[in-house]
Amino acid sequence: MENFQYYTPTKVVFGKGTEDQTGQLVAEQGCRKVLVHYGSGSVIRSGLLERIYRSLDEAGIRYISLGGVVPNPRLSLVYEGIELCKRENADFILAVGGGSVIDSAKAIGYGVANDGDVWDFYDGKRRVEGCLPIGVVLTIAAAGSEMSDSSVITNENGWLKRGYSSDFGRVRFAVMDPELTMTLPKYQTASGCVDIMMHTMERYFNHCDNMEITDGISEHLLRTVMKHAKILMTEPDNYNARAEVMWAGSLSHNGLTGCGTDGGDWASHQLEHELGGMFDVAHGAGLAAVWGSWARYVMDAALERFAKFAVNVMGVEPEEDDAATALKGIEAMEDFYRALEMPVSIRDMGIELNEDQMRELAEKCSHFGRRTIGCIKKLDKEDMYRIYKNARG
Ligand code: NZQ
Ligand code: ZN
Repeated sequence: MENFQYYTPTKVVFGKGTEDQTGQLVAEQGCRKVLVHYGSGSVIRSGLLERIYRSLDEAGIRYISLGGVVPNPRLSLVYEGIELCKRENADFILAVGGGSVIDSAKAIGYGVANDGDVWDFYDGKRRVEGCLPIGVVLTIAAAGSEMSDSSVITNENGWLKRGYSSDFGRVRFAVMDPELTMTLPKYQTASGCVDIMMHTMERYFNHCDNMEITDGISEHLLRTVMKHAKILMTEPDNYNARAEVMWAGSLSHNGLTGCGTDGGDWASHQLEHELGGMFDVAHGAGLAAVWGSWARYVMDAALERFAKFAVNVMGVEPEEDDAATALKGIEAMEDFYRALEMPVSIRDMGIELNEDQMRELAEKCSHFGRRTIGCIKKLDKEDMYRIYKNARG
């Protein structure tokens, strides 16, 4: 078991109608002017934005707005948001949306609170020393950004998608009404469930003596998400299923399932980020497309762990040797992805990767040969290339 820190400063306000408390929650933060940040229109169509404005008005909060965040949020809009906040003296950001909106809000918060180019942080050149305070009204269960320390931004200059993690970026409060997620297209619901599971799986696959309690929480979380994800495929309005998935999304990425571990593997995420940057795929779908290829490539380095996963999470009957059990577990996970109409290869996402593109993905993912990824097995540029190739389909 490894030593660990567990830090979750976010106040969670969970349940039906909780978005009507937003104005009050913002007022409690003692701010003067709020930037309301949102995506490409779902919050307008659902009427949520109007309700948020009303709640802010009732609490006497002044605000300005910036919409237009797209999935795989862009650096150019972040720059726009930074300028707007500075010009208008905004001192709080309210993100109304999903991971993309929250991540964009965090980047804007860093850009306002720190001098210089905000991309430096994502490019690994500098560390932030602060962030504007942020609140969230969550509309999709997926990225877990509402309780995580990270933010992922895509730079259109080179189409590089890069993450940055800092406790300064953890949000002050997160309003989570599962009913708000009922308007999600099936594909986004499924993609979100894959991402939620991956945040725990990335931590589960590691090389240390794990804590029984952390493994137990992780395995139960994964089984819970699988059960309710399947329900949501036919019953999108099932409140309990929406609620289970939404809370799992936060717990999966707030550090809980990493306590006592060495931090986890995270290679699948790194491999997917380049797909998101280059082809603009939905993050969870991209993860489903590469996970099987990654798992088969590295499983020999952690057979016992993969076998445990197969039995305790996927419900596989143990075979005589761990390798056979592990493989059955990987296949069972791919069957689950198929049941959610998620891709199990890059071709399944409608992308026909050519040789040059596979090389480019590996170049970018290895930061042009400067880094390895993963902990189950350290992967260099050539390994990354092979995993993309095996995932091509
Ligand atoms: O933009 P709008 O119109 O709101 O539409 C969004 C978007 O098209 C739509 N949507 C959201 N809520 C909805 C809805 N449509 C109907 N009804 C609703 N209630 O869903 C689409 C996807 O939204 P997005 O915010 O992109 O989804 P998600 O939460 O999956 O976020 C993905 C981003 O988060 C990053 C990903 O890489 C990706 O860029 N991640 C962030 C992490 C973090 N900060 O901790 C960790 C993750 O591993 C991930 O990398
Ligand atoms: Zn993710």
